[in-house]
Amino acid sequence: MKGMILAGGLATRLRPLTLVTNKHLLPVYNKPMIYYSIESMMKAGIKEVLVSSSPDHAGDFTTLLKGGEDFGLRLYYAVQQNPKGGIANAIALAEEFAKEDTLLVILGDNIFNANKLKSAVEKFSQLKKGALVFGVRMPTESGQYGVIERSKDGKVLSIEEKPKTPKSDIAQTGIYLYDHRVFDFIRKLKPSARGELEVTDLNNFYLKEGSLSCEIIDWWIDAGTSYDELLRANNLVAEKVKNSEL
Ligand code: DAU
Repeated sequence: MKGMILAGGLATRLRPLTLVTNKHLLPVYNKPMIYYSIESMMKAGIKEVLVSSSPDHAGDFTTLLKGGEDFGLRLYYAVQQNPKGGIANAIALAEEFAKEDTLLVILGDNIFNANKLKSAVEKFSQLKKGALVFGVRMPTESGQYGVIERSKDGKVLSIEEKPKTPKSDIAQTGIYLYDHRVFDFIRKLKPSARGELEVTDLNNFYLKEGSLSCEIIDWWIDAGTSYDELLRANNLVAEKVKNSEL
């Protein structure tokens, strides 16, 4: 399996913090934000990872992360020309890199408990078909994210992007496993109302053919949504590091 970390976008919600730098380079406790997704890739046992970023900051990522030797994996880089093209638009950049292999995608502003990742990756690598999304229970704010509705036996029934009336308390995180057909599905996507190729629309292709599953993780934070979430991420990570949980 190959890995991909998304570090593009414009991060307008975090301005002026992101006026001259990329959100994924901002500090979260004692490291730049992107380190956490790289460490998650390491925990998952992925050896080759493509990092996609925006044209203005691509050089900062190569300066910081180099070839990946500090992390014990190999890093490759891609530039997403339209930084607001959407998550699926960025994933498309991995086609040549992933070839026929399966792909683990992590959004570079997501920090989470990656302990379950290795077993999920191993299981998925044997299966080689379909897609898997990771969800997290959010009793009050799931509607700010993609929302996953599941049946009692764990089957995914629907995923909706930021619905006004969420059908469940399960938020779709930014961690996805795909088979090699993901690139064919992306070619079929149309831009959403906000002008992006949406990851939720992509996941719905798998849902429609009945090959989408969902695993729940116990803690997760999207550090890039607001100043408050960035602050919460800093505090949470500090606590986890001090308790040797991260
Ligand atoms: O974080 C989880 C959520 O991420 C999911 O629950 C949603 O279903 C999914 O659509 C996405 O929601 P956001 O609207 O919050 O995504 P955002 O624009 O914040 O971008 C998420 C990450 O992807 C961030 O690290 C930047 C990167 N990105 C985003 C876009 C739009 C790119 O690399 N390129 C892009 O074109």
